[in-house]
Amino acid sequence: MSLTNAPDPEIRAAVVRQDLKNVLHPIVQHKLLETKQMVVTSAHGSTIYDADGTAYLDAMAGLWCVNIGYGRGELADVAADQMQQLAYFPHTQMNVPAAALAEKINTLMGGGYHTYFVNSGSEANEAGFKIARQYQKHESPGAYRYKTVSRYYAYHGTTLATLDAGGMGDRKGKFEPYSGDFLHVAAPTCYRCPFGLSYPSCNLACVKNMESAVVGEGPDTIAEIIVEPIMSGVGVAVPPDEYLPEVEKICRKYGILLHVDEVINGFGRTGKMFAHQHYGVSPDIIAIAKGISSAYLPIAATVVKNSVFESFYGEPSENRQVFQVNTYGGHPVSCAVALRNIEIMEAEKLADRAAETGAYLLDGLKTLLRHDIVGDVRGKGLLIGVELITDRASKAPATPATITAVVDHCREQGVIVGRSGGGSRHGNTIIFSPPLVITRAECDRLVETLDRALIALPTA
Ligand SMILES: Cc1ncc(COP(=O)(O)O)c(C=O)c1O
Repeated sequence: MSLTNAPDPEIRAAVVRQDLKNVLHPIVQHKLLETKQMVVTSAHGSTIYDADGTAYLDAMAGLWCVNIGYGRGELADVAADQMQQLAYFPHTQMNVPAAALAEKINTLMGGGYHTYFVNSGSEANEAGFKIARQYQKHESPGAYRYKTVSRYYAYHGTTLATLDAGGMGDRKGKFEPYSGDFLHVAAPTCYRCPFGLSYPSCNLACVKNMESAVVGEGPDTIAEIIVEPIMSGVGVAVPPDEYLPEVEKICRKYGILLHVDEVINGFGRTGKMFAHQHYGVSPDIIAIAKGISSAYLPIAATVVKNSVFESFYGEPSENRQVFQVNTYGGHPVSCAVALRNIEIMEAEKLADRAAETGAYLLDGLKTLLRHDIVGDVRGKGLLIGVELITDRASKAPATPATITAVVDHCREQGVIVGRSGGGSRHGNTIIFSPPLVITRAECDRLVETLDRALIALPTA
């Protein structure tokens, strides 16, 4: 069975039957798919097309990942050429595109880094945990530094260890218990400060909370601290500018590695190539994925500072090498596609464009603060959250039913928006993370559509 771009209700219906009978989908309840589903068959720029002919403006770039936009035929040519030349060989040896991509990543990071290739953001973080632990075994013989410090409401991936590192109870609950090697501290969710304080008079209580957890646990038990510079899944939490530098100071003071999760933040999303570059820090471990190839092929990486790399360098008899492998890491076709994707980003200055268009979209969305239901509008670059509440004084979160109504209304109007995770406390934010090529006219449409969706809500 095949589908062309032309709408064909019969073929669409056949695909739906075939899918419902055979596919197990992630996250979504199958019962819902029986009555309402999309069969996405083609896409261009920031727009995707259902097999029934409906066009949707995709304000989520898929899952926050199609940074250069859909339909770049050039990447298909690169993949085809590389497949003809060399489709695969294990990355225990070298290949041309992986070496070139690692050099490009090193340059983008400002130099001084080596790259270990994996296949997904979860694996990139997981490899980071293991590299941090192995590094500490090499560098602190006799000590037992194995713990990772993370933040509540963080999301770092879907494997058991990355879920454990994450701090979203509603995502983790079904798989408990966990190892206990990951401990959590307060997140810089300033609109809902966990300490009930306001910036700047808070004096960064969240950083103090982090340091007291480190000291209380015993710094010599801690391998690394993981942070997503701008937390995405919780509803886009942009921390105060001093936050990340202060976290870095804790790391340096106690011999802890700084592990930054750039899986969503990276590759132009926040208006710079990497979000940590807004804050002048120098992470030891950086997880990258999604925008690295704009999701044209699966690829991700764990990038380590040379001081970490050197800890893995020595005589074979010392057994210091990176003690992990994955079949597809450094896949030549994925690497070739990722490299061209990054070259497109550079040629079209997409990080700068994200900064400009993001500021324009943020201004537009801020006009919606005129609705009582809009509590906060925040973001950096093209990573933006619009938090919905029931009343301004208590900031009580809008209900899940309200958020669903807003998301559904937008979809009925041909616009796909996202919603935050984070359960009853943080699950009430509408998310915008569109392709970085989105136009100002398309941004206007996003604002107008959300405006109409808010107006359409039943008044209490
Ligand atoms: C911040 C962050 N880290 C890691 C991941 C995991 O990436 P993947 O789904 O590619 O495993 C995600 C996924 O959305 C993410 O948002």
